Amino acid sequence: MTSNFPLVIAVDGPAASGKGTIAKALARHYGLPFMDTGKLYRACGLAVRLAGHDPYDADAAADAARRLDPALLDDPDLMSSLNSDYASIVSSHPAVRAALFETQRAFAAQPGGAVLDGRDIGTVIAPDAPAKLFVTAAPHVRAARRHAELAGKGGSQTLEDVLADIHARDARDSGRSAAPLVQAADAALLDTSDLGIAAAVAAAIDLVEKAISARRR
Ligand code: DC
Repeated sequence: MTSNFPLVIAVDGPAASGKGTIAKALARHYGLPFMDTGKLYRACGLAVRLAGHDPYDADAAADAARRLDPALLDDPDLMSSLNSDYASIVSSHPAVRAALFETQRAFAAQPGGAVLDGRDIGTVIAPDAPAKLFVTAAPHVRAARRHAELAGKGGSQTLEDVLADIHARDARDSGRSAAPLVQAADAALLDTSDLGIAAAVAAAIDLVEKAISARRR
């Protein structure tokens, strides 16, 4: 179904829940521009790392966020486990979130709509989005997915290490005081634990269609 209003789709959820794959597929399906907002925090984490700063140093991290080099968004190290930690830590600083807010808000405000995935899209970046999904999966399922992904890239982390990383990142992303990972009150929950990619995408399209219909009524 096409909508007669800007179709902004907010896709939030924890690490390796499948939200990125689902958000990209939704963008293709509806012909909308797509932003992976985690990359902004990852680029900020990488800038801090390359400069040799401590990610817990809020001033250094905010400074890096304010003068982010777009070239870092394509850096091969962006998605590494070490950089995931840096991204998660720098993202807990309110000044970092403030510095990255406008880029995301402007992307969401495009006249034809947009799809954004992250942790706070439905709650902070686009609270009025007509369609919001909160994508999740059991921690051991997310760990197995991330482990397979890292192994495919030649990574040597054990499944236990990946699971421990996921638990640590969940605790940090959900426990921080600035825009914690939380399901928006009006977001539809999509648990992908028992779903393959095709089934998860089909379920997501179904939920977006329902949200569009509800908005029209
Ligand atoms: O989605 P991701 O795993 O690539 O995100 C990396 C980190 O960035 C994640 O641990 C938390 C942070 N993040 C955030 O705080 N807010 C967002 N909208 C997206 C990511």
